[in-house]
Amino acid sequence: MIDLHCHVLPGIDDGPDTIEGSVELARAAVAAGTKMLVATPHVSVRYPNEHQVIARLVEQLAQRLRADGVELELREGAELAITRLIDMKADQLAPMGLGGGPWLLVEAPFTPALSGLEEVLADLQERGHRVVLAHPERSAAFQRDPRLLATLVGGGALTSITAGSLTGRFGTTVRRFARDLVEAELVHNVASDAHDSHDRSPELAAHLHRAGLSPVLEWLTSEVPGAILRGEETIPARPATAIPLATRTTRRWWRRGPLRRASLPR
Ligand SMILES: [Fe+2]
Repeated sequence: MIDLHCHVLPGIDDGPDTIEGSVELARAAVAAGTKMLVATPHVSVRYPNEHQVIARLVEQLAQRLRADGVELELREGAELAITRLIDMKADQLAPMGLGGGPWLLVEAPFTPALSGLEEVLADLQERGHRVVLAHPERSAAFQRDPRLLATLVGGGALTSITAGSLTGRFGTTVRRFARDLVEAELVHNVASDAHDSHDRSPELAAHLHRAGLSPVLEWLTSEVPGAILRGEETIPARPATAIPLATRTTRRWWRRGPLRRASLPR
């Protein structure tokens, strides 16, 4: 498996404070079946991390993992806050993609209103970037207006939900919404968003199995993130394999009329 979203680097955001904590997290990821992990520290107003620092820490941690015999491949990335990325220059943003490629991991804002999000993402795509939205299921605005998320996906954005969301780590509302999004085919990746080895852990498969999503585990955690890291423009189609439905008919908002296709450039 590939974990596309993880706060594994020491001392630069709300992940581990020390490299020992990073090694512990990496060991837990390997034990959970992860072969490759993308280091995605926050890049925000609170944590204005520069690419040079991220690249240096990835190299240092990779060396340490090799020395300690931890078989985990590391890649560079970042979790970009909208409030920070709108002020970043092109040469600051360019190397921030997942695996150094065109796909940017953009944090879905937790605020109840998302004014201007569509325009910001359109601008990024016009400048040649591609967008993966991180944990939209935890965003109050998307919970209230899920069709906005469908619009963004229609415009070329992908989504990466947090594994723990599927099993209740963030409460019932988030769990149900995450499940709705999977059934509405608005989820393309499941990542850990781990911050440590035990509380916000790098477990992926256990959550997917518990949520009844084993039939699409390979697609969510290997095929799609692999395509993203290779910088491919399009991702492989979701397998037609049936997944057990968990949603009550009344919540199937995505079946209520055609979803608006976004005017975002593809
Ligand atoms: Fe995160």
